[in-house]
Amino acid sequence: MTLPNADFASLLRRTMGLDAMSIGLSAIESAVKSRMKVCELKDSEKYWGLLQNSEAEVQELIEAVIVPETWFFREREAFSALISVMKGTWLPANPGGKLRLLSLPCSTGEEPYSITMAMLEAGLPEGLFQVDAVDISTRSLARARRGIYGKNSFRGQNIAFRDRFFEPTEQGFRIIESVRQKVCFLHGNMLDPQFMSEKAVYDYIFCRNVLIYFDQDAQDSAVRMLDRLLKPGGMLFVGPSESGLLMSHGFASAQFPLAFAFHRKPVAQKKSGKAAVDSLPISPHKIRSAIRPTVPLVRPAQQPQLKVAPQAKVAPQDSLDEISQLADQGRLQEAMRRCEDALRVAPSARVFYLMGLIHGANGNLTEAEQYYRKALYLEPGHHEAIIHLAFLKEQQGDLAGARQLHQRARRVGARG
Ligand SMILES: C[S@@+](CC[C@H](N)C(=O)[O-])C[C@H]1O[C@@H](n2cnc3c(N)ncnc32)[C@H](O)[C@@H]1O
Repeated sequence: MTLPNADFASLLRRTMGLDAMSIGLSAIESAVKSRMKVCELKDSEKYWGLLQNSEAEVQELIEAVIVPETWFFREREAFSALISVMKGTWLPANPGGKLRLLSLPCSTGEEPYSITMAMLEAGLPEGLFQVDAVDISTRSLARARRGIYGKNSFRGQNIAFRDRFFEPTEQGFRIIESVRQKVCFLHGNMLDPQFMSEKAVYDYIFCRNVLIYFDQDAQDSAVRMLDRLLKPGGMLFVGPSESGLLMSHGFASAQFPLAFAFHRKPVAQKKSGKAAVDSLPISPHKIRSAIRPTVPLVRPAQQPQLKVAPQAKVAPQDSLDEISQLADQGRLQEAMRRCEDALRVAPSARVFYLMGLIHGANGNLTEAEQYYRKALYLEPGHHEAIIHLAFLKEQQGDLAGARQLHQRARRVGARG
C-alpha cells in the first residue's frame, strides 16, 4: 500500500518543524523512497511502521531532507557587524568577561568557524570567547568536527582567510587546530522543548537560514527559544529572508545594513523613558551610535530649538534609517538611489559608508573601497567603515593593509 506523502510531511513538521512547501512535497517523496530502498522495504506503510518504532530511522529521514547549504563568511556583513559591536560595546562593558557565541544551526561548521576566525582576526584572545555550534544533523556535525572542506565552502573572491586558517591536505583544506578547538559542536533539535535548557545564555546568536524552512508554529516556538537563550542586551543574527519574522516578534533591527542583526525592542524604554534603556547591559543607544555619525544629524523639525545655522544642511536621520532598512531588506537599488538623493542634500560619512556597503554587496569592490574612504575622510573614526575596509583589503589579498586597519579599528574601539 502507498501512504500519502502528506503523512510523512506531517511527521517531519512535528519532529523538526519542516514546512513541506519550503522544499516541495516531491523532495519529501524522494527522501522517503531512498530510505525505503536502503531499508529494503517496498511498502510505504511498513516504512511508516518502522518510523513509529525507530528513532534512528526518523533521524535518517531527517538527514535525507535537510538542506545543509552553507559556506565560510556567508553574508559577510554579519561578521563585520559582530566584530564592530563586540569591540565598540561588549568589550568596554565586560572587562575580563567571557564572550559566549552560538551558531544554530551550524550545519557542516563553516559558520561557527567563520565566527572564530573573525574573532581571532580582530585580535580577541582565544581565552576570551567560546563558540557553541548546534545542528539536528549528526552527519553534518561529523563533517564539521572533521573540519576538511572543498571549494564549495570557499565562495566569492575573498578567500585570503584560507591561507591563514587552513592547511591543504589531499582531501581538501583542513581548518587549523587552534580554530577547531574553539568550537564545541553539539547535537540538538531547536524544536525540542528542553532544547539547551541547561545552557547559560549567549551574548550573540547566529540563527541564519533555517527559520525559512519552518512552518509558522515552528517559527514562533523557535523565536521564543532564541529569546530565552539570548542575554539581555544580546544580539541575534538571522538570514536575509528572516528579518520580517523577527520584527513581528518584538525584535528591532540593530541597524547594521546587510548584517540582518537584531536586538530586543527596549520595552522598558516605551514605559519609563531613557533611563530604563540606558540601564540595559548593552544599551541600544550604544549599538546605534556605533553606526551613527559622531556629529548628530538633526531632524528639520528640531532645528529652531537647537539653533542650527540655516546653511548646515544635513540628510534627516529618519531618511538615513530608512535607507539602512532598505539595504537590510536587500533592496539595494532603491537604497542606492536614496543615498544619492541624501548626498544631494549634504555629504555625510554615514551615507558614504552605506554606499560602500551597497557596492560591496553588489560585488563592486573598487567602488566600495572609494566610498569607505570618503566616509573616513569625513569621519576618520568611523569604526564600521574601518572594519569593512579591512575586510575588503583582505579580499584583495592586501593582508598588511588589512592588519593595519584592524589595528586602527581597535584604537578607535578602545577610545569609543
Ligand atoms: C541552510 S543550513 C544553514 C547553516 C548556516 N546557519 C548558514 O546560514 O549557512 C540549515 C541547517 O538547519 C539544520 N536544521 C534544520 N532543522 C533543524 C532543527 N529543527 N534543529 C536544528 N537544526 C536544524 C539543518 O540540518 C541544516 O544544517
